[in-house]
Amino acid sequence: MIQLNNVSKTFQTPEGILHAVADASLHVNKGDIYGIVGFSGAGKSTLLRMINLLERPDPGGEVFADGQNLTALSRRELNLARHSIGMIFQHFNLLANRTVFENVSLPLEIAGVPRAQRRARILECLDIVGLAAKEKTYPAKLSGGQKQRVAIARALTTSPKILLCDEPTSSLDPQTTSSILGFLKSVNENFGTTIVIVTHEMHVVSSICHNVAVMENGRIAERFSLADAAYQPQSGIARLLQQAKAALQLAPDILQTTI
Ligand SMILES: Nc1ncnc2c1ncn2[C@@H]1O[C@H](COP(=O)(O)OP(=O)(O)OP(=O)(O)O)[C@@H](O)[C@H]1O
Ligand SMILES: [Mg+2]
Repeated sequence: MIQLNNVSKTFQTPEGILHAVADASLHVNKGDIYGIVGFSGAGKSTLLRMINLLERPDPGGEVFADGQNLTALSRRELNLARHSIGMIFQHFNLLANRTVFENVSLPLEIAGVPRAQRRARILECLDIVGLAAKEKTYPAKLSGGQKQRVAIARALTTSPKILLCDEPTSSLDPQTTSSILGFLKSVNENFGTTIVIVTHEMHVVSSICHNVAVMENGRIAERFSLADAAYQPQSGIARLLQQAKAALQLAPDILQTTI
């Protein structure tokens, strides 16, 4: 479903050239929930943003999503292809001057869906995240978890085949994290949406991801399946992930435990 072939991203900075992502290749199967973990600055967000070409890889790298080579598309074709790739962020990125309904409406407006057809789809998506009653509310009046649910509803309006999530629960408390992960899991199960999650929270990965890539200094250092209990972790992060998975199996409520 997603294939990154030898993608690199360099930035010119006052200190010189910075290799944010260096020669990374990644394959994500259709219907997977795939985690990308690593320390701050490892290149996780840059890699994620290359999947929908918010960040264009340096020449030579290729990005395939849903069978299309995005790196070869014209601007117009790319805009169309992006309708099938939704994205959510740590700080929700809702527009403060738009109501919940109007925020969720945005991707449909961009896609040119006539107003008459928008309403039913918006309410359908708000219903999925249990927020239809808040359609007239402004984001400032919502909790963090509710804001992220609006962002999920907004991402779902165009029925994306892929949902990219950059630290979706990093601003949320443990109970709210658990509920947002529940929504993501149900979107994956009910609609077959392929989900890629960037996070530094080990318990998030261990609770919903099937596969994971560990990034270090712009490179993918390690990839493995969390279902593979016999896997021998190479990095400290991979070891922590396996421990988090084992802890979750022993104490399934650990995600909701506040300390
Ligand atoms: N637009 C940019 N211009 C210059 N440098 C950038 C840009 N975007 C990212 N970088 C640099 O690239 C590196 C990787 O950044 P990235 O945001 O992908 O890391 P990350 O793993 O997501 O980190 P975090 O966990 O802190 O979000 C960092 O050193 C960052 O400063
Ligand atoms: Mg990041």
